[in-house]
Amino acid sequence: MRNSILFIGAGRMAEAIISGLYQKSDEQISHIYVSNRSNPERLTELAKKYKANAIHEIEKFIKRVDVIVLAMPPGEHKDILKRISPYITNQFIVTVAAGIGPAYLEDNLPTNTPVGWIMPNTAATIGHSISLYTYGKFVKDKHKKQMEMLVNSIGASQYCTEQQIHDLTAVTGSAPAFVYLFVETLIEFTEKMGVSSEVAEKLVNEMVIGSAEMLKGNLSARELREQVTTPGGATAEGIKVLQNGQFTQLVQQAVIATNKKAKGEE
Ligand SMILES: NC(=O)c1ccc[n+]([C@@H]2O[C@H](COP(=O)([O-])OP(=O)(O)OC[C@H]3O[C@@H](n4cnc5c(N)ncnc54)[C@H](OP(=O)(O)O)[C@@H]3O)[C@@H](O)[C@H]2O)c1
Repeated sequence: MRNSILFIGAGRMAEAIISGLYQKSDEQISHIYVSNRSNPERLTELAKKYKANAIHEIEKFIKRVDVIVLAMPPGEHKDILKRISPYITNQFIVTVAAGIGPAYLEDNLPTNTPVGWIMPNTAATIGHSISLYTYGKFVKDKHKKQMEMLVNSIGASQYCTEQQIHDLTAVTGSAPAFVYLFVETLIEFTEKMGVSSEVAEKLVNEMVIGSAEMLKGNLSARELREQVTTPGGATAEGIKVLQNGQFTQLVQQAVIATNKKAKGEE
């Protein structure tokens, strides 16, 4: 089945999905329509770069599409859902916004509307997101296939319950920032050892890329760490400092704090 898809929101995440769809699922796509709030140049850019159609009056196009992807900020959802609701005739509505789960979509759309939620991460822009996804109560098999097409376009994926996505967004969505902070810190200290910032960046970035590649092999993170850490050796001394500084507890606390904030508890 070929799908027509309307994107409401034409930013980085919309482009990541559109680009991935054409690269990986071209034969499943009939038309892609892109729209945004106030930036016609951006729509022209996407239309030129991909086989997409730039549109301005979304209401006119809803009946032509099978799937609508909401790729705009969470705070814009209420108004857009209200605006599109009168025109919905069984389109599959999928959001990529943080905090906007199926329950929220169903509450703000006509009864029985099939809905889905994808929580991608920033690596979607290079086709390497690990995306969490879930569905609402009214999806059928064809919607599950459409969801697979969307998530597979931007990398790997994992089905979760709605509550699991709320809880795991800290790990898959926010933890890349924790990793970058570690990289930044190591680069800054490497510069202090007398190499240029370019060399420091190259050394640390390549070390992290190599370590991440190793995780794709058969050994677990623990086994890889143990391989590098000879008991009583130099690396073991460094690990001891991290453990004495409560590294494990700090990482756990960072995940908990992220989740609390995302749920509006802090
Ligand atoms: N980027 C990521 O790594 C990432 C990861 C996970 C989830 N997400 C989620 O993905 C969504 C989009 O993020 P992004 O990074 O693509 O943002 P972005 O690059 O800032 O793009 C946002 C897009 O939304 C459009 N928009 C805003 N309000 C709108 C409205 N009322 N009607 C129609 N379009 C509207 C903007 O249009 P104008 O330019 O015309 O205002 C723009 O095209 C967000 O909900 C974000 O939480 C992003």
